[in-house]
Amino acid sequence: MTVRGRFITFEGLDGSGKTTQIEKLAAGLRAQRIRVHLTREPGGTPFGETIRHLILDSATSRLAANTELALMFAARTQHLDEVILPALEAGDYVLCDRFTDSTEAYQGGGRQLGSKPVLVLHRVLCADLQPDLTILLDCDLNFSLNRARHRNLVTTAAGHRDENRFEQEDRDFFSRVYEAFHAIAQREPKRVAVIDARGTPEETHQKVLATVQQRLKVVLSH
Ligand code: TYD
Repeated sequence: MTVRGRFITFEGLDGSGKTTQIEKLAAGLRAQRIRVHLTREPGGTPFGETIRHLILDSATSRLAANTELALMFAARTQHLDEVILPALEAGDYVLCDRFTDSTEAYQGGGRQLGSKPVLVLHRVLCADLQPDLTILLDCDLNFSLNRARHRNLVTTAAGHRDENRFEQEDRDFFSRVYEAFHAIAQREPKRVAVIDARGTPEETHQKVLATVQQRLKVVLSH
């Protein structure tokens, strides 16, 4: 049997607080002397970060949905090869801010490409690697939309290059993304834990810790 670390992914709408929660969990695991790689998608490697910039910059308009899909997987396969698989093989924990569920939710649901091409590409290109645990941070759709709009206004007014291209989408797009995330959670309840993220960051963190302990059988001090 090969020794393998643990692969935990965080998913949710833009503005669901993923980044704060993933950092808090990383700190909690490191306090137990667990080796943790904190990474994100799209990105995680120099090549992936270049793709991230291309996809997310709001100056990049009119990408065909399939182009977007292909670029997400191009970044992901490099990320798996360079970062995720070596870390898991070394027995480390990998905490990843978004993974293939985001592609199924945004490109499959939001862009209406459907789940099938995403799942097929995941099987062919990513050897169907499944996270040991996926935390789906469940926040209110309106809250997420407001936060996205605010970020959009701030960066547009300042004339900065940004990562807001998805945040310019409308309510229908984000409700499709939301529905797709929840459909994944219903399909795979053993892997995906839905956590109510509408409380304070600390309250949500405690729920995340309890879920990780319970599902992965690790002991973490609260
Ligand atoms: P992220 O940096 O997690 O944004 P936020 O901090 O706002 O949650 O993700 C960047 C964007 O990329 C986000 O709008 C979702 C989108 N995305 C996809 O559309 N498909 C994918 O496969 C991934 C990984 C991200």
